[in-house]
Amino acid sequence: MIISGKDLSAKLKAEMAERVATFPEKYGRVPNLVVILVGDNPASQSYVRGKEKAAELVGFKHSTICTPATISEAELLDIIKGLNEDPEVDGILVQLPLPKHISESKVIETIAKEKDVDGFHPANVASLWQGLPCILPCTPKGIIKMLKEAGVEIKGKRAVVIGRSNIVGLPVAKLLLNENATVTVCHSKTVDLPSITRQADILVVAIGRAKFVTADMVSEGTVVIDVGVNRDEQTGKLVGDVDFEAIEPKASVITPVPGGVGPMTICCLMENTIECFLGRMQ
Ligand code: GUN
Repeated sequence: MIISGKDLSAKLKAEMAERVATFPEKYGRVPNLVVILVGDNPASQSYVRGKEKAAELVGFKHSTICTPATISEAELLDIIKGLNEDPEVDGILVQLPLPKHISESKVIETIAKEKDVDGFHPANVASLWQGLPCILPCTPKGIIKMLKEAGVEIKGKRAVVIGRSNIVGLPVAKLLLNENATVTVCHSKTVDLPSITRQADILVVAIGRAKFVTADMVSEGTVVIDVGVNRDEQTGKLVGDVDFEAIEPKASVITPVPGGVGPMTICCLMENTIECFLGRMQ
């Protein structure tokens, strides 16, 4: 079974749009998401367009602040501080990666944690690992939603996560633990990785290398979640981290790239923006 993140996110966004339509009467306005795009990286521009399109669809107020790549760190932090103080702004997202002269961690720490729709602020990350209420990072949250929608039982399963980034690998491992899976976190240099991945009931791959996961690494019946977004050098097409053609026949459930995890990330960003809005309204 191929899980369509595209279809699931379309359904969830339609439900959110209905909810958001009731907000002006209840709260006097709709959620307001501000995205900051630094420079002209084509991949970042494309991600930001996807976020704008989704925000439009669910009925948010939204805007994108585009700055040149040469903006100083201090100027960028000042923009963020202004948005923190703006009572009409509910969600702030700074598209990553940033130019080398800007510290990503300083930027993330500067965003008010109540407006941190990415769930990247250290206070949010700490709450996640302490089991306290928090804004969940979008990609891990989207992955759990997809697994549940596909009817995958997580409790008691062996989950293997390849990748240990703060954005995907580590938080998805925590969310799988919260669902009572037993989780192994690996990386690209893990010794004898195939012997570990072959034991996985659920395999999540977030490495960023095309065809990193080959058919010999996956056992029959595995649930395969592909978080990779790579360009195929020959065709120029978007591909994930798993060799989809070779693995799809073995997997019980698999996510495609594009149209899998990516749309769910954006969908959860919309959900997080509503959560931040409601949190601020109360
Ligand atoms: N760049 C790639 N993925 C993300 C994301 O989820 N949030 C932000 N802010 N930047 C990204």
